[in-house]
Amino acid sequence: MLINAAVLRTADAPYAIENVELNGPGPGEVLVKIAGAGLCHTDVLGRTELVGKPVILGHEGSGTIEAVGPGVTDLAVGDPVVLSFDSCGTCTNCRAAHPAYCAQFFPRNLTGLAIDGSTPATGEDGKPVAARWFAQSSFATHAIATARNVVRVDPDLPLELLGPLGCGIQTGAGSVLIALGVAAGSSIAIFGAGGVGLAAVMAAAVAGATTIIAVDLHPSRLDLAAELGATHTINGADDDITAQILAITGDGAQYTFDTTGVPAVMTTAINSLRPTGTCGLVGIAQGDLVLDPMALAGGRNLMGILEGDAVPQLFVPQLIQLWKQGRFPFDKLITTYPLSQINQAEAAAASGTAVKPVLIPDR
Ligand SMILES: NC(=O)c1ccc[n+]([C@@H]2O[C@H](COP(=O)([O-])OP(=O)(O)OC[C@H]3O[C@@H](n4cnc5c(N)ncnc54)[C@H](O)[C@@H]3O)[C@@H](O)[C@H]2O)c1
Ligand SMILES: [Zn+2]
Ligand SMILES: [Zn+2]
Repeated sequence: MLINAAVLRTADAPYAIENVELNGPGPGEVLVKIAGAGLCHTDVLGRTELVGKPVILGHEGSGTIEAVGPGVTDLAVGDPVVLSFDSCGTCTNCRAAHPAYCAQFFPRNLTGLAIDGSTPATGEDGKPVAARWFAQSSFATHAIATARNVVRVDPDLPLELLGPLGCGIQTGAGSVLIALGVAAGSSIAIFGAGGVGLAAVMAAAVAGATTIIAVDLHPSRLDLAAELGATHTINGADDDITAQILAITGDGAQYTFDTTGVPAVMTTAINSLRPTGTCGLVGIAQGDLVLDPMALAGGRNLMGILEGDAVPQLFVPQLIQLWKQGRFPFDKLITTYPLSQINQAEAAAASGTAVKPVLIPDR
C-alpha cells in the first residue's frame, strides 16, 4: 500500500515527507495505522553511520491494527496498540522475561532492517527504504510491527498520546520500578530531566522515594520535575553537584540514574552514591567512562539498563493504570505536532523547549 512517511535520506538532512510503498504484513507481523509517534532522543542514533539511509525512524508509535499477517493469533483488526521494542522470544533472556536483554536486541531494533536484512518499504525512486527501526519505523501514516512488539491497550484511551510509553517513558519508569527497584523511603538523584528522566521522577514518586533530586541544565525542565514529584532540583552547570547531593541526603543517594550519556555526569552520578547504592545508566554514552574502581567501594553498584528491563505487555498497561489514577501524569511531558512539522519538533526537543514531541500523521 502507498503510505506517507518522514524519510531521512542522509545523516544531516532534514526529514522529508515522501510517498513510500509498504508491503506486508508478513508472517508474525501486523500492519498498524499510526495515531501518533513520540520522538525519543535515541532517534538521533538513526542519524549516525550505525543505520543505513534512507530510513524511516520513529520507535514510540501507537495506533490501530489494520491487518494481521499469517500466524498472528492473539491480535485482531481494530485492536488499539502501543508499539515497543522487538525481541526474539526464544533466547535465554527472553524466556527469563528480560526481553530488553534479548540476544538479538541490537539487530532487531537499531539497524533499521529486519533480522534477515530485509525492509518492507520502497521509495518513489524504486529503491529500498529501511522501515524496521525498532521493528516499527512509526514516523509514518502506517507501520509494520511484530506480534511481539505491540501491546494491546483499552479502547477508551487517548491513543495518539500513548506511543512514548513504548520506549522513553517505559525506560525511565521501568529503570526505577523494575531494574533499580527503588524502595519506599529511599533517595534517588536523577541526572537529565528529559522524557526518560522525568518518567523516572514520576516513578520514584510512585515508589515512595522520599528524596527525589532532579539535575538538568534547563530551568523549565527542573520546574516540571518539581511539579512531577522531585523534592529537590539542582542546576547541572553547578560545579559542586556531588556536595549538594551529600548535603541533601547526608551520606549520598541510595540510587542515582544517568540519562544524559555525558561521561562527566555519569562520574558525578557514581560519586554521589551512598555505600550500597546503585547507579543506573541509560543515556547513550557520548564518550568513554573512566572509572576509579574505588568509586564502587562500599558495596556500590553500576547497572547498564535497556528499556527499563520491562516486559512491555505487562508494564505499559500498569503505567496506563497509574496514569488513570493521576499518579503518573506522563501526558504533561507531551507536545503534539503534525508529522509534516517533524523538523520543527526535532529542533524543539534539541533546544529543550519541548520535552516529548508526539507526531500526529496529517490526514
Ligand atoms: N537505554 C535505553 O533503553 C534508552 C531508552 C530510551 C532513551 N535512551 C537514551 O536516554 C537518554 C535520554 O533520553 P531522552 O529522550 O530523555 O533525552 P532528552 O534529550 O529529552 O533528555 C536528556 C536531558 O539531559 C539533560 N542534560 C544534558 N547534559 C546535561 C548535564 N551536563 N547535566 C545535567 N543535565 C544534562 C538535557 O538538558 C536533557 O533535558 C538518551 O541518551 C537516549 O538515547 C536510552
Ligand atoms: Zn531474545
Ligand atoms: Zn527510545
